[in-house]
Amino acid sequence: MADLRENIARILLTEEELQAKVAEMAALISEDYKDKQLLLVGVLKGSMVFMADLMRKLNINAKIDFMSVSSYGSSTVSSGQVRIILDLKRPVENYDLLLVEDILDSGATLSYLKELLLARQPTLLDKPERRKANIAADYRGFEIPDEFVVGYGLDYDEDYRNLPFIGVLRPEAYA
Ligand code: IMP
Ligand code: MG
Repeated sequence: MADLRENIARILLTEEELQAKVAEMAALISEDYKDKQLLLVGVLKGSMVFMADLMRKLNINAKIDFMSVSSYGSSTVSSGQVRIILDLKRPVENYDLLLVEDILDSGATLSYLKELLLARQPTLLDKPERRKANIAADYRGFEIPDEFVVGYGLDYDEDYRNLPFIGVLRPEAYA
């Protein structure tokens, strides 16, 4: 197994930048949802680190649940096909849902889930250059260039999720 940081070409977003942005997003969401029944739905597995930080920075009640969908396999380009691997535990009609995503790329995943759940979404990262579906996140952390990034929950072939920052993967690592 290679060293965790060996294949990182450069750091795009540091731990400090991520924490500051997540705090900003949490403040907005706390204000917008203060009189609502907030249910945060994390899209596994990529959103887990963002979700864990975001929920701890909210100052309102929030329930949480998770869904898992698959669209990537072990490639760096979306297959465009979304499959539900793990569904929500309980009915959600009485809640105001926020679908917590790590990154909005082609938009296939979020537009599918948004339609299914009629939910609004915070996404940590947005790569607008790659958008195919007609969707914009309701809360957006950072707009990033069209590069494959890993860390802070995001993976390449299930590795690198445990990096505390977001970095650009060396193209040689997936060539
Ligand atoms: P979309 O359906 O094309 O918008 O892709 C959304 C999903 O693709 C995200 O939830 C990520 O899991 C994955 N993804 C897209 N871009 C990247 C990236 O740069 N690094 C890691 N995962 C990514
Ligand atoms: Mg994901």
